[in-house]
Parts: sequence; structure tokens; C-alpha cells
Amino acid sequence: MKTHLLIGRTLAFAEDPFRAPPEAAARISERGAVLIREGRIAELGEADDLRRAHPDVPVTDHGAALITAGFVDAHMHYPQTGIVASWGKRLIDWLNTYTFPEEARFADPAHAARQAALTLDLALAHGTTTLASFCTIHPGSVDAIFAAAHARGMAVMAGKTCMDRDTAPESLRDTAQSAHDDSAALIARWHGRDRAVYAISPRFSPTSTPDQLEALGALWAAHPDCLMQTHLSEQVDEVAWVRGLYPQARDYLDTYEAHGLLGARAVFGHAIHLTPREEARLSEVGAGVAHCPTSNAFIGSGLFDLAGFAQTGMRVGLATDTGGGSSFSMLRTMAAAYEIAQLRGHAIHPSQLIWLATEGAARTLHQEGEIGSLSVGAMADLVVLDLASTPAIAQRAERAGDIWEALFPTIMMGDDRAVAQVYVAGRARPGRGERNGDQQSDERIVT
Ligand code: GUN
Ligand code: ZN
Repeated sequence: MKTHLLIGRTLAFAEDPFRAPPEAAARISERGAVLIREGRIAELGEADDLRRAHPDVPVTDHGAALITAGFVDAHMHYPQTGIVASWGKRLIDWLNTYTFPEEARFADPAHAARQAALTLDLALAHGTTTLASFCTIHPGSVDAIFAAAHARGMAVMAGKTCMDRDTAPESLRDTAQSAHDDSAALIARWHGRDRAVYAISPRFSPTSTPDQLEALGALWAAHPDCLMQTHLSEQVDEVAWVRGLYPQARDYLDTYEAHGLLGARAVFGHAIHLTPREEARLSEVGAGVAHCPTSNAFIGSGLFDLAGFAQTGMRVGLATDTGGGSSFSMLRTMAAAYEIAQLRGHAIHPSQLIWLATEGAARTLHQEGEIGSLSVGAMADLVVLDLASTPAIAQRAERAGDIWEALFPTIMMGDDRAVAQVYVAGRARPGRGERNGDQQSDERIVT
């Protein structure tokens, strides 16, 4: 279907809701419409107007459901899908006990292909149309996720995770040279192919030697339109460990900066325990930060200063960090972001939460205008949310006085049951029932 009209409640943003009053920054239509042409949003407006202007275009009417940009997960680890919700450890023990043994299994391309397909299908079922994922040290793990993304028409950012230090198990180590060369070959194979974006991915300073960071900094300088993703200041013990491993560095961020790994297209996961210099420097260079609230609570990392970061205009996006994060749902992630901000004395508005999970995350990944936005010219990667998806949510939403009160119960209590439909590049993904072998759909086609 080349041209297609969707009707429902629509939610778009005219401004950053952290820089403008959060409600005024949003554009809501109770009976809105989105005209999709060749996979992109061609027009937005009122349903009656667009139907009149395009009388021959097929229509899908989503009724009272909310149509907005598909969710964007700014930082996750698809190889950890199989170990999500593993009990009882903090970061370093968690990596050694659960993460590294599972990542070693990705030497097998068949395992990588299975887990990549599973992860992207889980993401789509939860309304996530784009994710930025770490892979493993195996180049085949990168091929697997980009191939799975291509098969689904999804925009995915990913890269080979690089680790050459003896802090990582031997079976998961590369070298400075092989990390550079393998990453370069993967950039040549995937970056810019269809919707793939390559992210140069040193895991974090503790598992790389300075030589490896230097080699990856040189690679990024040669491919400046790639992203660079890594981890920064997630746990207090980790910050102390980095201080011991890099005695010359001014701070944790400096271990990256000194090797050419700080720039606007850098995306730092976590960034909880920062010094004032690190905060100022991140802001100055316009680097992105991925806030991973379910992970930060689950692994016991700390309380990210979301209100402080977002108000400075820094690129901040929400991320699941699965399998450190405990949910594939960006709704659950928004709820955790809300709860953590409350613990720091700030109530994040539902408009701001949705923005962080869509446009904010897209900005963090330098994809603004392309994804994460219900705006003319953007890709038609969309989610349709049922705001009454369970009896508990429905009875609360029924009392709502406005759209924000109607939406907030779904943010706080919703999960994949709230995802009525997902569109990737304008194409409807199979519905929940269809995935279970039942061809029924609650979507009404009213051509
Ligand atoms: N720091 C380095 N590697 C990881 C990882 O896989 N998950 C999390 N949460 N933190 C990390
Ligand atoms: Zn991570």
C-alpha cells in the first residue's frame, strides 16, 4: 500500500517540552489523521479535512486510540535478551555471572540470528520501532541484528562490542587491531545500507586498553557520521575502578576524551555519578546521554538527574538497557523514569515522558526529523496506543479530564497490551493475535 490514511487521536510535538510549557509543546487532535505516502508521513491534520482532500485513499480508523511516533530505545543489548531479569548482582558481578557467559554463545551465528529476531519482535510488540543495541565481540552478532532489522524494515543502530583487556574473559577478547579492523569492515558492510546506522562500540573503559580506545577513536575520526556508544559512570564502584585503571585521566569521561571518543555523535549510557566537569563537557560538545531507569533501579546503580539534564537542552533519551534493564517496554521505562525523578523531587510531565521515549531518544541518536517524530517528512514509524488496555487502566482513564490524565495511567501501568498497532515505514506489523496464529485484528479498515 503506497498511500494510506490513519485516523485516531494524534499526539505530536511542536517544541521540546522541557524548553516550553509541557502541554503547550504538544499538538493533540481528538480526531486527527496521518497521511502516509511511500513510508513517510506526507500530511498531518484533522480527519475530516484529510478524508475530504484524499477521498480515494484507503483508511484505517483507530477510533479513540492514540497515534504517536514509535518508541525509540536509545541503549540496549540485544545479546542479553536471554538473561533479562537475572537475580541478585550488582554491575561487575552481574556482567561476570550472567552477561559474559551468554555473550560467549554469540560465537554461533545461528544463536545470534535467533536472538536478534526474537529481540526485534519483542521490541515491536512493545511499540519500539528503533533501538540502538550493543552486539558482542563477534562480527557475526552485528550481521545478525542488521539482517533482522532489514527484514523488518526497521532503523537500527548497532555495533561490535569491543573488549581487549584482561578484565574481560579470554573467550570474549579481541585486540586493539582486530577491534579496529573488524569494526571498519562492518561499517563498510552495513553503515547507511537501507536504514542501518553503525555505532562504534567500546563496551566501557574498564574492558578496553588505552590502545584499543585510541584505535577506535581513530576509526571514528575516519567515519565521523557513525555513532559512538559506550557506558559512563553507572556505579560508584565502577568509577573507582576506572580511576585505578586510568591514573592519568582527569575523570571517567576523560578516559574517552583523551582517545578521541568524545563528540556530538557519542551516546553515553547511564551517566549517573558525574563530576561537574564531566557534565559541563558533555553539554559543551553536545553529546547524548541514554537514561536507563529500569536498569539503574534493577542493578542498584543510582538516581539519574533527569530534570537537571533535560533542562539544560542536552541530548537525553530514554533506554531500556535490557538485559540490565528489567523490561522491553518503553512505557515501563517511562514509568521508572517518572519514579526516579520523583525520588529526586521532580514530577516529569507525561508530555515530557513521551517526548523522551520518542523525539528525545531520536535526538540522542542524531536521527531527529527522521524517526521519533509525528511530523511531515519523518518516516512513518508509529505506535497506536489503546489507553484502556486493562480493566485497571480503563477505570482510571475513564475519569480523565484531559488527554494527559487519559495517557498517564497507560504510562504508569501499561505494557505490550497497550500497543494496538505498530507501523514500520508505513507498513502495519502483524497484530498480537496474528503472531499467535489468530488472523483476527481489532483494526477497522473503512476504505
Ligand atoms: N557496563 C558495561 N557493560 C555493561 C552492560 O552490558 N550492561 C550495563 N548495564 N552496564 C554495562
Ligand atoms: Zn548498557
